[in-house]
Amino acid sequence: MTRRDLIQKVLIGGTTVLIIPKVMTSCSKDNTGDTTGGNNGNTITLDLTDAKYSALTTAGGFVNVQGIIVANTTAGYVALDNTCTHQGCGISFSSANNNFPCPCHGSVFSTNGSVVNGPATVALKSYSVARNGNTLTITL
Ligand code: FES
Repeated sequence: MTRRDLIQKVLIGGTTVLIIPKVMTSCSKDNTGDTTGGNNGNTITLDLTDAKYSALTTAGGFVNVQGIIVANTTAGYVALDNTCTHQGCGISFSSANNNFPCPCHGSVFSTNGSVVNGPATVALKSYSVARNGNTLTITL
């Protein structure tokens, strides 16, 4: 093997190593609809007068922000990690069923994050949410 062959093999291998993690990251989390709220490291604050979060002013509405799904449920405002604990797909909110289904393999989570239907076996992380006027504060 020449020095040139070695460099070409390393470069090809390096490209593969660089591409695979990006593809895996894309498959592991669905950030569709992700919006950005104010985050001071301990809390995320959402201004409900901002059009990005206006869905939360309606019963059954939800948004995704910084990896958390925030929904206006019959149990009040709920904030859960939006990554399914089964294989990492992004969960949604079903206002008709008042729960959080995963589109990939059918897991369903309750408004407190517990597993209602598998194959997931681990609950979603739940965050406390408080509303003060038009400000929603999620404690991380
Ligand atoms: S990734 Fe959610 S059920 Fe499989």
